[in-house]
Formats: sequence, structure tokens, C-alpha cells
Amino acid sequence: MTSHVSLTGQVAVVTGAGSGIGRASALLLARHGARVHAADLNGASAEAVAAEIDKTGGAAVPHTLDVSDPGALEALAEWVFAAERHVDVLHNNAGIGHAANIEATTIADWQRVIGVNLLGVAYGIQAFVPRMLRQGRPASVINTASMAGIVPTAKMAPYCASKYGVVGLSEALNAELSGRGIHVSAICPGIIDTPIIATGIMRGDVAAIQGKASDFYARRGASPDEVAEAVLRTIAKHRLIVPVPRRQVTIPYLLHRLSPQLTQPLARGFERIVSRG
Ligand SMILES: NC(=O)c1ccc[n+]([C@@H]2O[C@H](COP(=O)([O-])OP(=O)(O)OC[C@H]3O[C@@H](n4cnc5c(N)ncnc54)[C@H](O)[C@@H]3O)[C@@H](O)[C@H]2O)c1
Repeated sequence: MTSHVSLTGQVAVVTGAGSGIGRASALLLARHGARVHAADLNGASAEAVAAEIDKTGGAAVPHTLDVSDPGALEALAEWVFAAERHVDVLHNNAGIGHAANIEATTIADWQRVIGVNLLGVAYGIQAFVPRMLRQGRPASVINTASMAGIVPTAKMAPYCASKYGVVGLSEALNAELSGRGIHVSAICPGIIDTPIIATGIMRGDVAAIQGKASDFYARRGASPDEVAEAVLRTIAKHRLIVPVPRRQVTIPYLLHRLSPQLTQPLARGFERIVSRG
């Protein structure tokens, strides 16, 4: 239960806050008392989420932000610290979907997926964490990775590389920073009902099942609210790797830890499962 968690007086920054998991996280953190800076590439959606928070009595500030631009993150951190003096929760969440057989994957795909999903998190950390270390109060950095960051999926090599990277940097940074008051976590969502499949880049034979995969995520995906609850629990309890929902992610994760070979059939079967629609 997270209903007791109070973030009153705290400041949170959420990237990719205009939709899906980021939106749910922004709303929940605000409901628990945090003043939320909601940032998204789609500025109108960030504004809509901030307005939704305002309407329910919370406090939010919208920002238009491209996380693949390190200068934009530096400018955001400068702005937020000038206004607030501290950031207690940094949720590096913005990300894009990508799936394609390797022959259909382009160099531009690799650059885009790594640029947003991995470097976007790295730039958020570089801009905010040094300032958070100087603020003299503890803080949490929550990075949205994926089940695809702890268990592989065929035809998702760039996406898996980006998300394994997010898990790796989160573990390394937590080892470096937790003794200095900053706890770092990697949230690893499974199948969540958001627009990520519909808006993701799909090429080659995977493109033909984009509609069905999107239906599968809508029908079988967990609510983004469930992921937001995990974010809140992690802020309160400082967990390092957070599979969510556990009913989807924990067993494949444990199998993969036992032997990576064990999850290869699962990695190959994922496309067949989601193409059922
Ligand atoms: N939905 C899932 O099943 C699932 C599973 C595992 C991990 N994830 C991860 O969760 C995170 C959120 O995804 P979601 O499912 O909520 O998708 P979503 O598409 O609903 O939301 C992603 C948001 O990020 C924003 N965004 C995209 N590129 C950006 C950029 N360069 N700069 C700033 N904002 C940008 C989009 O405008 C959008 O509002 C992503 O990192 C994704 O990889 C999602």
C-alpha cells in the first residue's frame, strides 16, 4: 500500500509525462503532494497533464522537452533549480518503441532508439544529479527501463540494448550514489496499455502485426497506474530493479537470471503472442 506516502513539500520532474506511464506517474506524485514538472516532447500533452493536476488541486508546471538533446535537459535543470532550489524525485521516463527484423532495421533507428531511450536518461542524470547532490537533501532517481531491459525479445535489438543500458547505468549509479543520499531505481514494466505500440517505429515483417500488437497491449496490458504505484513504492522503499506487474515480469526475470539460455524460446515467441491481437 502506498496511500500513506506523503510527498508534500517535494519537487518531482517527470519526462514523457504527456502520456501513458509518465502521465500516470505525474498524476500520482502530484496526488501525494509533490509539485510536478511535467516534461514532454509533445508540449500540448504536457500542458494537458499539468492542467489535469491543477484541476484536482495539485501543483504542476508543463515543459516542452526533447530528452535526446542534452542542452535541453541542462536548460530544464537550470530552470527548475532556479525556481525550486531542489528536486526530490527525478523520473527519467520518456521513451519510444521500436521493433523490426534486423535486415529492416536502419542505422537511423539505432541512433533514434539509443538517443531517446538510453542517452535521454543519461542526459537527464548529467543535468540533474550533480545539482541534486549539492541540494543537501535525499532524493530518488527513477529510470523507466523495461522487461526488455532484463529479458531479451527477438526483433527488438535496439530497444533491448537501450533498456539493458538503462538497467546497467541505474545499478552502477545506485552503487555510487546511495551512500550520498540519492537512490537510483530501474522500473521494468512488462506489457502496459499505452499508445507506445501504435506510435512506435515498426518495420519489416513486424510492421504487418503493428495493429494486432497494439490491440493486444490494449486488451491484455496492465494499467499505467499500476506502474505509477510501483514508482511511488520505490520512492518510499528504495528498490533497485522493479519488475511491474510482478505477475508478468518476475518469472521470466528469474529464469533469465538462472540461465540466459532459458529465456531464448520466450524471446522468439513474443512476436507470436502479441500478434494474436
Ligand atoms: N507500454 C509498455 O508496455 C512499456 C513497457 C516497458 C517499458 N515502457 C517504457 O515506458 C516509458 C513510457 O512509455 P509509455 O508506454 O508510457 O509510452 P507513451 O507513448 O504513452 O508515452 C511516452 C511519452 O514520451 C514522450 N516522448 C517520446 N520521445 C520523447 C523525447 N525525445 N523527449 C521527451 N519526451 C518524449 C511522448 O511524447 C509520450 O508522451 C518508455 O520509456 C517505454 O520504453 C513501456
